[in-house]
Amino acid sequence: MSSAVVVEDLHKTYGTVRAVGGVSFTVEHGEIFALLGRNGAGKTTTVEILEGFRTRDGGHVDVLGLDPGDRSTARILRGRIGLVLQDIAVEPYLTVRETIARNAGYYPAPRDVDEVIGLVDLAGQEKKKVRTLSGGQKRRLDLALGMIGNPSLLFLDEPTTGFDPNARRGAWQLVRNLRDAGTTILLTTHYMEEAQELADRVAVISDGQIVAEGTPTTLGGRDTARARIRFALPPGSTVADLPVVAEPDEDGLVTVDSAEPTGTLHQLTDWALRRGTVLAGLTVDRPSLEDVYLRLTAQDRSAPERTLERSAP
Ligand SMILES: Nc1ncnc2c1ncn2[C@@H]1O[C@H](COP(=O)(O)OP(=O)(O)O)[C@@H](O)[C@H]1O
Ligand SMILES: [Mg+2]
Repeated sequence: MSSAVVVEDLHKTYGTVRAVGGVSFTVEHGEIFALLGRNGAGKTTTVEILEGFRTRDGGHVDVLGLDPGDRSTARILRGRIGLVLQDIAVEPYLTVRETIARNAGYYPAPRDVDEVIGLVDLAGQEKKKVRTLSGGQKRRLDLALGMIGNPSLLFLDEPTTGFDPNARRGAWQLVRNLRDAGTTILLTTHYMEEAQELADRVAVISDGQIVAEGTPTTLGGRDTARARIRFALPPGSTVADLPVVAEPDEDGLVTVDSAEPTGTLHQLTDWALRRGTVLAGLTVDRPSLEDVYLRLTAQDRSAPERTLERSAP
């Protein structure tokens, strides 16, 4: 079976601003795939091209076997995908139930309206006018509208921005439940924690380009990165006495770099215990997903504006 989404060398420029500059990735059926990146990285542009809302300047895009840029199949595609846009416009004077029911009517085989109201935890609120909902309730209504059509592929553009931590956890569980029920999900986020909690695979987008791709644990070589072991030399010992290669540093500690910290720690602690001493201040560090993400997206900070060559005035 082919992939749910295939993107190859996607390009999009607004005037002189290159929003997407050669992005490629695939999303397999049944997985949660996260595009992770700072504001302005090109996430919304990418997903809106996949949804058929924006045209692309170049590259190949395949969504559920269709080209979202092909107007002749736009209706078929629209019936098979669900969307939660970054900024969504809903009728403020309709009730929650009316809004969801009206959207259900746009799809060939929608989910049951009450079931969806329950899934997004809006039971009891269905008679409320949309304009009276809190921010978090509105976002849950957005989620309801994304799933009402029973889509096989759901796009979520920053689905939990503005949520409090409890609401965020609730939304994550809902997204997982949808995935477990067979929905393929492509989400964008600038929350590392969200990508880590939810995604089967993550692509980090920075400056309109994918700078790393992998599972949350392997991203950027995190799982294979060398560990850094630090401790204070026991009194009366020198670096040369240690069973492994160590470097003294300025603050009186020694540092041991290790690709196999389990074995290295065993050698070191065994050495210390035999001498009847301890490794004071012992710590072991590995780069966190946050370290990796900050390193990968660092250039975004130094170059907030990316412009193509401007034509001479
Ligand atoms: N309609 C537009 N017109 C001009 N520039 C845009 C437009 N939409 C987005 N951009 C620019 O394209 C870049 C990528 O934006 P966007 O895709 O919204 O990123 P993200 O969703 O990751 O925050 C940004 O520099 C943004 O300012
Ligand atoms: Mg965006």
